[in-house]
Amino acid sequence: MFMEKKIRIGFIGTGGIAHAHMIPYTSFEDVEVVGACDIVPGKAREFLDKYGLKDAPAFEKATDLLKNVQLDGVSVCTYNTTHAECAIEALEAGVHVLCEKPMSFTIQEAADMVKASRKAKKMLTIGFQPRYDYMRRRVDEIIQSGALGKVYYIQSGGGRRRGIPGGTFVDEAKAGYGCLGDIGCYSIDECLHAVGYPKPLTVSAIATDYFGKNAKYWPEFNTFNVDDFSVALVRMEGDLTFIFKQSWAMHADSLGDTLWLGTEGAIKIVHGHGEHNMPSRYMYYTDVNGMQIDSVIEPSIPFSTYGEKPVKDSFAAKIRGFVDAIITNGPAPIPGEEILYNQAICDGIYRSSKLKKEIEIVIPSIEI
Ligand SMILES: NC(=O)c1ccc[n+]([C@@H]2O[C@H](COP(=O)([O-])OP(=O)(O)OC[C@H]3O[C@@H](n4cnc5c(N)ncnc54)[C@H](O)[C@@H]3O)[C@@H](O)[C@H]2O)c1
Repeated sequence: MFMEKKIRIGFIGTGGIAHAHMIPYTSFEDVEVVGACDIVPGKAREFLDKYGLKDAPAFEKATDLLKNVQLDGVSVCTYNTTHAECAIEALEAGVHVLCEKPMSFTIQEAADMVKASRKAKKMLTIGFQPRYDYMRRRVDEIIQSGALGKVYYIQSGGGRRRGIPGGTFVDEAKAGYGCLGDIGCYSIDECLHAVGYPKPLTVSAIATDYFGKNAKYWPEFNTFNVDDFSVALVRMEGDLTFIFKQSWAMHADSLGDTLWLGTEGAIKIVHGHGEHNMPSRYMYYTDVNGMQIDSVIEPSIPFSTYGEKPVKDSFAAKIRGFVDAIITNGPAPIPGEEILYNQAICDGIYRSSKLKKEIEIVIPSIEI
């Protein structure tokens, strides 16, 4: 598509993940990165300079970036506990937002983000790039075709054997959650997007920190103050049971398979070995005239896609999805409204594990 005017993008937060956003943005001919901010003095300047963007201004405050630079969209790449304030400020300034995952820390913050987006009539999309993974799309497609009948049980699988990330991920004041907010929210999205995100009703959860707090497994055990493992039973609308589990570290090669059980079929993702325990095999099970059929879902295209266009990887697809939605004034690729239930489960797991009992999940109003 020929564009007279390039899409003007800014950054709020220029730490680790901002680079993964910047690389695709700078590879698109119809996009220009025009400014950035980070609360650490000099960090945004250094970030922009690294990509040759000497003329793009750098700030320490989001307010100054939003006031001084005309923007179409921003990537909010701050740590979890400041996602809400930064996203809301950008939306209120009339700028579309791509916010990194997890959506926020609390469910109230997530609801406030959705309200700000609705009020400003600006897009709020959440950065779950595995949505664009080719095999993930195949699994979603099979489940959404109805081939499994009524899905009544889902469990998340995988988990890391040794994978505590460090940095701001292990600081409760900045990350809020540990493993739950880092990779747990991806598992929730993988399991529930495929079945249309039914409403979560109650949650009973336990979170532990046995590895992060042990000098044998984590050098900064003295300051580690987040979860490194959590497990939960979530009751969902429509008599659906969701068993969630996720780990940054454990003495096993996997927490098991990811599984969707339906009345007419099932899908299982077998997780491989290794530090980060990636999916190794995708299976579909059904019954034809009393014969039990096991099928392997083969990856026929070895790259990620965004729509019909092949792009380099899932991360680039996520960035392209945001840009295309700005250009077409289209819907958010991964709308805040949908991820509200993901955040409600994270918030519920956190609170239930602190309170040591089952709790009801209450979704705050998003009416404006
Ligand atoms: N999608 C992915 O694959 C992926 C991977 C890693 C991290 N993340 C997410 O990205 C986010 C950031 O992670 P990271 O590893 O880049 O963390 P980081 O700590 O390296 O970077 C965060 C940056 O935000 C800045 N910041 C914090 N509050 C700010 C504010 N109010 N205004 C301006 N700047 C502010 C910090 O100074 C820091 O430089 C987290 O939410 C994390 O979950 C996503």
